[in-house]
Amino acid sequence: MSFNIAIDGPAGAGKSTIAKRVAEELGFIYVDTGAMYRTIALYLLRNQVDCEQEQELAAALEGMEISIAYENGEQQMKLNGENVTGLIRTEEVSRMASRSSAKPIVRAKLLELQRSLAARFDVLMDGRDIGTMILPDAQLKVYLTASIEARARRRYLEQQEKGEQCTLEKIEKDIEERDYRDMHRATAPLRQAEDAVRIDSSYMTIEEVVDKIKSLAAERR
Ligand code: DC
Repeated sequence: MSFNIAIDGPAGAGKSTIAKRVAEELGFIYVDTGAMYRTIALYLLRNQVDCEQEQELAAALEGMEISIAYENGEQQMKLNGENVTGLIRTEEVSRMASRSSAKPIVRAKLLELQRSLAARFDVLMDGRDIGTMILPDAQLKVYLTASIEARARRRYLEQQEKGEQCTLEKIEKDIEERDYRDMHRATAPLRQAEDAVRIDSSYMTIEEVVDKIKSLAAERR
């Protein structure tokens, strides 16, 4: 049987950096489910689909094939065969992913892909509803969070490194809005699973969080 680790938490808590590191050190496959929602969002933006129009959204999802591949251990997102990994990290895509991922039909499209990966491989999967909905039987569930201030500061530094102009206030506001949407949507809202271990990374280094999750995994294996 495969060993599954679920990591959920809000945007900017360090999930993907930490999940990638832990997966690599444990020899697990890292599955970034946010990237899957981002890929759908990219398609919707490209095709000017109004995700509030149910039929329009359903038709768009029919025409879209989402798949995942690995190159040098890095997850690659394919949209109808095109590698779109480098195109899904913009703020525009983030906003559309947050809006469209609230739609049950969008979530249903990704459910099987996510569960089948976890059934076949030892995975470390990160997202919002992995411990609560996708992998309720995961051997280890972590809810990774941090204060809004800490998350905004990290994102601000990332943006600066990329040479993108943005103010700390704007980032804080975006994070707050995204948290609110992710936590208050009717379908699969972000929340901590009852059996998840909560880790607040506000004052922890990446190494400290990685070590903590590795030791939790070692206890359960
Ligand atoms: O983790 P991220 O920022 O790449 O996720 C992009 C959006 O997708 C985010 O607004 C929440 C949503 N998402 C989700 O609803 N469920 C998941 N399992 C992963 C992401």
